[in-house]
Amino acid sequence: MKIYSNDNYEHMSICAADILCEAIRPNCVLGLATGSTPVGMYSELIRRYEAGKLDFRNVTTVNLDEYVGLRPSNEQSYRHFMNEHLFDRINIDKERTFVPDGSSDPELECKKYNDLLSSLTIDVQVLGIGHNGHIGFNEPSDEFSKLTHAVRLSPSTIKANSRFFASPSDVPISAITMGIGQIFAAKRILLLVSGKEKAEIVERALFGPITPKVPASVLQLHGDLVVVGDEAALSRI
Ligand code: GLP
Repeated sequence: MKIYSNDNYEHMSICAADILCEAIRPNCVLGLATGSTPVGMYSELIRRYEAGKLDFRNVTTVNLDEYVGLRPSNEQSYRHFMNEHLFDRINIDKERTFVPDGSSDPELECKKYNDLLSSLTIDVQVLGIGHNGHIGFNEPSDEFSKLTHAVRLSPSTIKANSRFFASPSDVPISAITMGIGQIFAAKRILLLVSGKEKAEIVERALFGPITPKVPASVLQLHGDLVVVGDEAALSRI
């Protein structure tokens, strides 16, 4: 595991963009994440694209997850988030950007996503981490999931994500997420961590016991895990 500690969020976002850019070339496959943490990195990618330093023409992206019940056009959907924070602002072919469709039948959508993921190899998978150690929407559980599946969100995740909704009761109670096995199959994992409130879970995930009760702990076993954080999130390690 490699850990890059940066003095603040802006610097960690530049550091994360540097690492992701190493993989951006025609026909690469990027695994992308939502949440607040990668937003600075996406802004930096847009800046480099506008400066003529990046070309996304033949890049494919696959996102980790989506809320069940939200249409892609819904402002709280992860598809909308990705369009707004990245895809609409770079020269990527939208047909090559994949986010599970939360408005489709979850079972069919999971099957479709599993077929898609089995047809490609992710070069770099970007991850954030939930306060309970979730990655994508793989919540603490009795076993590590292999494939894309529908999950019921934990009360703590609903509470944490309610900041993006008018009220906690508007947060969908379930989601579709890539399985841990599919995340783990990426050639490289780029885990982004920011803020003091993540320090404890970052320590448990990276140096505690490997257990599905802390889904991110499985990343300790990955052969190419790169952690990019700010000092606050990395303060306990
Ligand atoms: C959500 C997403 C995760 C993300 C997590 C942390 O639950 N499904 O992919 O990593 O939130 O988000 P943030 O970066 O906003 O702390």
